[in-house]
Amino acid sequence: MNILSAIESALAKENLEVIKRITGKVFSELEDDNKIIIYPLNGTDQSVRRDFLLKELKQILETKTIERTKYYLNRLRKSLSVQKEGKINEINLNRWKEYEDIITDSLWIFDKRDSSGAHKADYWGNFIPQIPNQFLKRFTKKGDWVLDPFIGSGTTLIECKRLGRNGIGIELNKKVAKAAKGRLAAEKNIFEIRTELFTGDSSTIILQPLLRKLKVKSFQFLILHPPYWDIIKFSSNRSDLSNAKSTEEFLKMFGKVVGNTYPFLDKGRYCAVVIGDKYSSGEWIPLGFYVMREMMNKGFKLKSTIIKNFDQTTAKRNQKELWRYRALAGGFYIFKHEYIFLFQK
Ligand SMILES: C[S@@+](CC[C@H](N)C(=O)[O-])C[C@H]1O[C@@H](n2cnc3c(N)ncnc32)[C@H](O)[C@@H]1O
Repeated sequence: MNILSAIESALAKENLEVIKRITGKVFSELEDDNKIIIYPLNGTDQSVRRDFLLKELKQILETKTIERTKYYLNRLRKSLSVQKEGKINEINLNRWKEYEDIITDSLWIFDKRDSSGAHKADYWGNFIPQIPNQFLKRFTKKGDWVLDPFIGSGTTLIECKRLGRNGIGIELNKKVAKAAKGRLAAEKNIFEIRTELFTGDSSTIILQPLLRKLKVKSFQFLILHPPYWDIIKFSSNRSDLSNAKSTEEFLKMFGKVVGNTYPFLDKGRYCAVVIGDKYSSGEWIPLGFYVMREMMNKGFKLKSTIIKNFDQTTAKRNQKELWRYRALAGGFYIFKHEYIFLFQK
């Protein structure tokens, strides 16, 4: 059965009963079909999810007037035959209801990390793959270039490989970069994209010649996951942001990385910063908000503040009771969240 021609034939009728009969026939045929429906359009095969189609057809069948029925039929015809793609992603807005995997709320709660394929949870301080996955799907297209100047274990580049985006990662720590390269090699490159991992200090690395060599002019997405100052000491290297001597120095170092990478992001494109606050000498240090201000000072426009649940470290989980006592006695709350700030250049 060709769904589109059935819809078009229903649209050509002026009798509600006849329209419902044609629509009902499509509905019952689809009920018995398999999960993904393939239909021909302009010489290529298109696919659509069966549950989406059934929901739309059910709504049409339940509609009482011919005008409304035709309105829904027309909408379905358009969603199946016209691609309405934005400039910065591959989301077809005419079929927006099908993108149930894309989060549009500002509260992100993940039960567990995606540990499939090359993703491993063994790098202390890595972020969950769902973070770059969400942003790459929403703010990039296949073939775009992504930069992560705090690449750590390589999570962003692994997601780039999975989703068909090119990516560059920079990591200060040689050992960490080497391990990331190994992980990255374990992930299949089904879209035949390019991923490059450089060892260096993201605040001083000269990107221009590296990009020229790769024949890349600019990036279409930037993702920053810096150390949350000294919460985790990543190395003893003085250029490591986790070795900053004060909040001011941390922000200065972070600002230098932003300043060094900002010129290579295309105007109008997006940047995500993942950061948490810290507690020191009985005081909550709002690192997240300081970093947000630093980004805005550098010229970025704030688009969203996302609160994400925070996985406690095993050490803290084992001392749950002790931390609860400390919180009760000390008048503070235990960290259970971190921030993801979304900016646009
Ligand atoms: C929070 S981790 C990033 C983890 C990463 N998102 C992942 O999923 O594995 C921060 C990383 O930044 C690195 N780093 C710290 N200072 C840096 C600098 N100046 N230049 C480049 N990397 C740096 C650290 O070695 C660490 O691996």
